[in-house]
Amino acid sequence: MDRESTRAEELDRDGDLPFEPYRVKVVERIHRVPRQQRRRLLAEAEYNVFKIPSSAIYIDLLTDSGTSAMSDRQWAAMMTGDEAYAQSRSWDDFERTIREITGYRHVIPCHQGRAAENLLFGTLLDETHVVPNNIHFDTTRANVEFRGAVALDCVCDEGLDPDLEAPFKGDMSLVKLEQAFEKYGQRIPLVMLTITNNSGGGQPVSLANVRAVREVCLARGVPLYLDCARFAENAWFIKRREDGQRDRSIAEIAREFFGYADGCTMSAKKDALVNIGGFVALNDEKIAECLAARLIIQEGFPTYGGLAGRDLAAVAEGLREVLDEEYLTHRIEQVARLGARLDEHGVPYLRPAGGHAIYLDAKRMLPHIPPNLFPGVSFAAALYLEAGIRACEIGSLMFEHADPDTGETVAPEMELVRLAIPRRVYSHTQLDYVADSCARVRDLGERLQGLEIVWQPMALRHFLCRLAPHGGGELIEP
Ligand code: F0G
Repeated sequence: MDRESTRAEELDRDGDLPFEPYRVKVVERIHRVPRQQRRRLLAEAEYNVFKIPSSAIYIDLLTDSGTSAMSDRQWAAMMTGDEAYAQSRSWDDFERTIREITGYRHVIPCHQGRAAENLLFGTLLDETHVVPNNIHFDTTRANVEFRGAVALDCVCDEGLDPDLEAPFKGDMSLVKLEQAFEKYGQRIPLVMLTITNNSGGGQPVSLANVRAVREVCLARGVPLYLDCARFAENAWFIKRREDGQRDRSIAEIAREFFGYADGCTMSAKKDALVNIGGFVALNDEKIAECLAARLIIQEGFPTYGGLAGRDLAAVAEGLREVLDEEYLTHRIEQVARLGARLDEHGVPYLRPAGGHAIYLDAKRMLPHIPPNLFPGVSFAAALYLEAGIRACEIGSLMFEHADPDTGETVAPEMELVRLAIPRRVYSHTQLDYVADSCARVRDLGERLQGLEIVWQPMALRHFLCRLAPHGGGELIEP
């Protein structure tokens, strides 16, 4: 055996082979439209990249949600999906798979994550309540606030320092959680943990932290729910980074953290590798009955919940596939590789690289643009203009909110631009182009202008708001 093959074997044993553990069967042509056209489209979209037609986007890193490439097995499952209104075969597969992975008894299907949040919070929250989370994702925060309740972020301090290299920056601060209980007491009906922590850089939560949060919740008699959209990626990080976890399977690790919680909400559009789907899973029978009753009004009968039978079938297959460690290794190392290329250019991003995305540090790159002129949005607009790449701001436009006590406007700690990587979709060379383009936009420096809001809706303003360059000039000054 020569030295090369020994190394390959060693890599293989560690699940570290750098190759895609799949080959391409279907392709979709993408186009880079000319700069002039991109300039016009950006102005027509009023500098909100959510409004740019996808046909004019070269590389779309707006989200990793619902943008996965499905496998041949998933497509096959779709073709044999059972479309019976009640108790279909596809529902059986969906329910069984989720029960096996999570260990929870009751499964409530719904069309995506926010529907799951709406069902759960609609059942459990009222306007007196306060919900601690490591960091609420935008729709989670909105669904809490829509009930008149307060969404309280309690991530550990390490999670708010973009430059710090630490293994579990998604962990909840136990001090902040205890303080929340001291302050709000009975007003806290449940605690949530978002794994991985999307709004905080796609950073994982450790098993030790889930266990510790569980202890606090038990002592207070309050249930713990996981927002588990990226649970398999979180489990992979635990396997790699947490003491004593290396020899366990992804499924075993996941089963352990699900076991510390009372239930979960999931957007299947992430780690179930599908284009649509979600669920709530939980042990409490009474709550499950309330959710099912609400489900019939809002989404559909409890064995399909707003999804076609074929969608249920694709979710079940995707959930089995995502537990494959070789897939996860390639997936997460592809994101890390993009980070390494950004390092070569000295482009700052939240460290370490997240599981599903890189979060560029717009505050650092554009210190001349204050939070109220949205440096992240400005960077994302310029990235489209310069390179046809679509990314998403995770900063003041998305997360500015009123302080629950004083009512004062609070800007988030970080101004980020998320490059979310769809699963099984883009190649290394395409991501090299992304990194090189980010460096070009960073180099624009003070030529890049901030953006002002021209109009905004009452909630989740980043999706629909209209913007214009500050001072009435161009986004990029000549
Ligand atoms: N929870 C987390 C952690 C999420 O990242 C998302 C969606 C949701 C809940 C809501 O799920 O979209 O299926 O209704 N995140 C997407 C994103 C939209 O781009 O990060 P959904």
